[in-house]
Amino acid sequence: MRMENQRTLPRHIAIIMDGNGRWAERHALGRIAGHKRGAKSVKIAVKTCREIGIQYLTLYAFSVENWSRPREEVDALMGLLEKYLRAELQEMIKNNIRLMVIGDIETLPSPVRKILTESMDKTAGNNGMVLNLALSYGGRDEIVDAVRKIMQDRENGKIDLRHITKEVFSRYLHTANIPDPDLLIRTSGEYRLSNFLLWQTAYTEFYFTDVLWPDFRRKHLMAAIADYQRRERRFGLISNQVQKD
Ligand code: FPP
Repeated sequence: MRMENQRTLPRHIAIIMDGNGRWAERHALGRIAGHKRGAKSVKIAVKTCREIGIQYLTLYAFSVENWSRPREEVDALMGLLEKYLRAELQEMIKNNIRLMVIGDIETLPSPVRKILTESMDKTAGNNGMVLNLALSYGGRDEIVDAVRKIMQDRENGKIDLRHITKEVFSRYLHTANIPDPDLLIRTSGEYRLSNFLLWQTAYTEFYFTDVLWPDFRRKHLMAAIADYQRRERRFGLISNQVQKD
C-alpha cells in the first residue's frame, strides 16, 4: 500500500513510545505487562512504516535515564528486547529491513548485545527501510561523545578546527548516516523531548497524541502522518519562498 501523497511523506519518523506504565495501571496490571503490550505496538508501527514507504523509523526504546528504574523492570525490558529481536530477525531479512542502533550499546547485557550485532550484520545489506533503535541512548551524551571524537581526531591531526561545520559535526553523532527526522511522534499526552535526538530535531515537526503507546495502532500512525502532510515546513524562510505542491 502506498500513501496518496507520496511526495510529502516523511522520510524519517521518530517515536517516543510513552505510556506503557499508565496503560498497565489502567488495566490493573503490572508495569511489565504494559511493556509487553508495547512490543506489539512496535511490530505494528514497523509493519505500517514499511508498507507505506517510510525510509527510516527511529524508536526510543530505552534511554540512559531508564537504567535508574527498578532492577526488575530494567531486566524485563532487556528480556523483551532480546525476545523481540530473536523473533523478528527473519522478518527483517525477509522484508528488506536494515536494523541500526544508536546509544551506548556497550552497557547492554551481553545476550542483547549479541543478538543486536547479529541482526545488524545480517541485515546490513538491506535497503527497504531502516529500523533504528535508540538503546541506552541520551541526546546530551551523544553530543558530548561527538565532541570527544572530534578532539581525538584533532589530536591525531585528522581534523582542523576550521573544518568543523554543522555538517561535519553531524557525522560525529551516532546518527551519522541517517537523515534528521521529519516527524517526531510522542504518545501518552506528554510534551517533552526527554533527551531524545536533541541535535537532529532542530527542524522536525512534532506530533503529540494522548493515545498510550500500547494502544497505538495503524490508524493513529496514519493520523500523525496526515497531520504532518498538512503542515508547511519553512525552515526559517517565509511562506512565499517555500516550494508548494
Ligand atoms: C515508556 O513507557 C516506554 C519505555 C520506557 C520502554 C519502551 C519499550 C517498549 C515499547 C517495549 C520493548 C521495545 C522493543 C523495541 C521491542 P513508560 O514505562 O515510561 O510509561 P509511563 O510513563 O506510563 O510509566
